[in-house]
Amino acid sequence: VFENSKTASIAVAHEIAALIRSKQELQESCVLGLATGSSPKGLYAELVRMHKEEGLSFKNVITFNLDEYYPMEPDSINSYVRFMKELLLDQVDILPENYNIPDGTLSKEEIQDYCAQYEEKIEALGGIDLQILGIGGNGHIGFNESGSLQNSKTRLVALDHITRVAASKDFSGLNNTPRTAITLGVKKIMEAKRVILLAWGEGKSNIVKASAEGTVTNLVPASFLQEHNNAVFILDQGAASKLT
Ligand code: F6R
Repeated sequence: VFENSKTASIAVAHEIAALIRSKQELQESCVLGLATGSSPKGLYAELVRMHKEEGLSFKNVITFNLDEYYPMEPDSINSYVRFMKELLLDQVDILPENYNIPDGTLSKEEIQDYCAQYEEKIEALGGIDLQILGIGGNGHIGFNESGSLQNSKTRLVALDHITRVAASKDFSGLNNTPRTAITLGVKKIMEAKRVILLAWGEGKSNIVKASAEGTVTNLVPASFLQEHNNAVFILDQGAASKLT
């Protein structure tokens, strides 16, 4: 629990930088799982600052984003491709072939094979070294909504009403908000060697408590992380305020 989201984000950025550098020394690639949304913005800002001011290189970094709305054009204002490029990927020296974000332009028939290949690519690299997560008001991680199974695969999912309502401000209304998305499954998230979930503000405090201290249940997918052997919740005072 940190004083505020800024100090927390800086601490997480430092952990990631140390991981990237340790992998560089071993001449290994560093596989990061990344999230979008408001929670990791400060983290990405600090990583960009470290790249620009401290020479942190992303040449050995390979990234996999958790999710993308479907359907979604990559250059659309609300696409997660655009979000990632603007906030991180275009600001650092990561190689364009080294970042992966689910493709929102596929035909429905192509999605299943594409999702299997997304997972195979992660496996071929030895899995995700460090996975960054946010948490939805309903406990979703990625877009694994309530009811997602612990062994769920990367797939096309229907978004919960509460998730669509939260997104609707960006899409100027619920009617324009996508109903579906492609998400990394819970299984690959749980296979990550380390997981860091970020949550800020009192609005997240009830779901943080349910996830960290409540029953492990697929109604709250973030509660699965209690069974991960190297997962942490990084919180500000507000998000931690209901913890016992
Ligand atoms: C985004 C994602 C989502 C968000 C979650 C929290 O890639 O996977 O699970 O992390 O909806 O969103 P924010 O951070 O905007 O509160």
